[in-house]
Amino acid sequence: MSIKNIKKICCIGAGYVGGPSMAVIADNCPKIQVNVVDINESRINQWNSDNLKNLPIYEPGLKDIVEKCRNKNLFFSTDIVSNIRSADMIFISVNTPTKTKGIGAGQASDLKWIENSARQISKYATGKTIVVEKSTLPVKTAEIIKKILFDSKSKDNTKNFYVLSNPEFLAEGTAINDLQTPDRILIGGDNCDAINSLKNIYLNWICKEKIITTNLWSSELSKLASNSFLAQRISSINSISALCEVTGADINEVALAVGMDSRIGSKFLNAGPGFGGSCFKKDILNLVYLCNYYGLHEVASYWQGVIEINDWQQNRIVRIIVEKLFGTIADKKIGILGFSFKANTNDTRESPAIEICKELLDEGAILQIYDPKVEQVQIKTDLGKSSLKWKYCKSIFDSAQEADAIVILTEWDEFKNIDWREIFQSMRTPAWIFDTRHICDFNMLNSIGFNIWRLGKSS
Ligand code: NAD
Ligand code: UGA
Repeated sequence: MSIKNIKKICCIGAGYVGGPSMAVIADNCPKIQVNVVDINESRINQWNSDNLKNLPIYEPGLKDIVEKCRNKNLFFSTDIVSNIRSADMIFISVNTPTKTKGIGAGQASDLKWIENSARQISKYATGKTIVVEKSTLPVKTAEIIKKILFDSKSKDNTKNFYVLSNPEFLAEGTAINDLQTPDRILIGGDNCDAINSLKNIYLNWICKEKIITTNLWSSELSKLASNSFLAQRISSINSISALCEVTGADINEVALAVGMDSRIGSKFLNAGPGFGGSCFKKDILNLVYLCNYYGLHEVASYWQGVIEINDWQQNRIVRIIVEKLFGTIADKKIGILGFSFKANTNDTRESPAIEICKELLDEGAILQIYDPKVEQVQIKTDLGKSSLKWKYCKSIFDSAQEADAIVILTEWDEFKNIDWREIFQSMRTPAWIFDTRHICDFNMLNSIGFNIWRLGKSS
């Protein structure tokens, strides 16, 4: 069987993964036309906006690539049908959130958007089409996609489908760099020609040693396992941070010493307010669900522990803030610096700031929230009904006005060069800094007169 040269790609889903990953393919493969489609019209309008500051996603380097390729070989559209029809290869890059109701609610992935995409492909695709799972999926999802696609093939024998798994490992904030120079590209599949077609695309900018091929199920599971391992490292270091605070050990020193063992490695050992982002929690929950489904209850509870430590880390930060502010924060102003789940992104999905702010609001605090990229409307959505007692601030200085404390939750560069003397003047005393990201100079703050609590260090 031979598969035609890939001339047209369609990507279903113009989100954090679909947008940047297709922009990088278009940039590296000028002969391929890349069409990114979405049911969300306003998102597509943002991708097509003349003002590149209005792109729906903030990622360093993204706007330059969009400017270079858009309307040349990179197109954003809501015309899903005709773009599926003309595609040689279709990436499915839609959302796969945790189910909120029904069987598996709170753990299993909701595959509604995946199934819809597969049904659209089965209906509209023509000739031979390679279908690539880009979304993160439970192991064995390709079986469902194949069933839907092969059912339509039985009605129209001019159609043929080849299903591959090609999970995405980019991290937000460094997406373009991760896509240009990934650690590895993983392609799972059972058809060599289809695998080679996808491999040839990546070979335009990635060396062959970095491209690994596996069976479908290993590829699907490797993505869940990778995210779970990464999250597990964060829960491990966060659990040790609490022990540091009560013993006089210093979490940065411990992380350095542990990470210098080349078997362990130094990356991903920064203690903080817990992991956020759209995927770590959902992917571990999904792994837990799958383990229980297959009767592996001990394995399920092992991974569940990673999430429990993450929740506990956020709760204990709130408890410490309340305790340090004389046991009550009712009607006290607290400045919150950083709302996104990490620096260099406007994404707030599962941000530790959400839970921490909600708990502080429940305790009666008045929050003054500043983030360099997150908009007010997003914070409003995230904080929901507890929205009344917080104020959106346009500067660090604003968020410190008459505050009893400042809590640093995201490691934005801007927070590393604050004029703390000026800030101190605008706060009530005793003035507290709670640094959950290790970005403040303790001696300097101390000399100004601040009280400081630093995560993973004794007071
Ligand atoms: P997202 O919510 O930002 O984007 C998904 C898009 O798909 C949305 O714009 C939605 O409107 C669109 N969509 C849904 N159903 C559709 C349909 N039938 N037709 C057309 N468009 C449709 O999600 P995301 O962050 O890009 O994540 C997508 C997948 O990639 C998820 O499985 C996620 O786990 C995985 N992933 C995400 C990241 C990340 O950093 N965000 C990294 C690696 C993998
Ligand atoms: C993560 C993975 O790093 C990507 O490989 C994966 O593709 C992606 O999830 C996904 O599947 O969605 P992302 O969530 O964008 O990427 O960001 P990370 O850099 O992994 O950070 C996740 C969270 O962990 C952030 O809240 C961050 O502050 C926290 N973190 C990270 C720490 O607390 N300490 C660290 O040492 C590293």
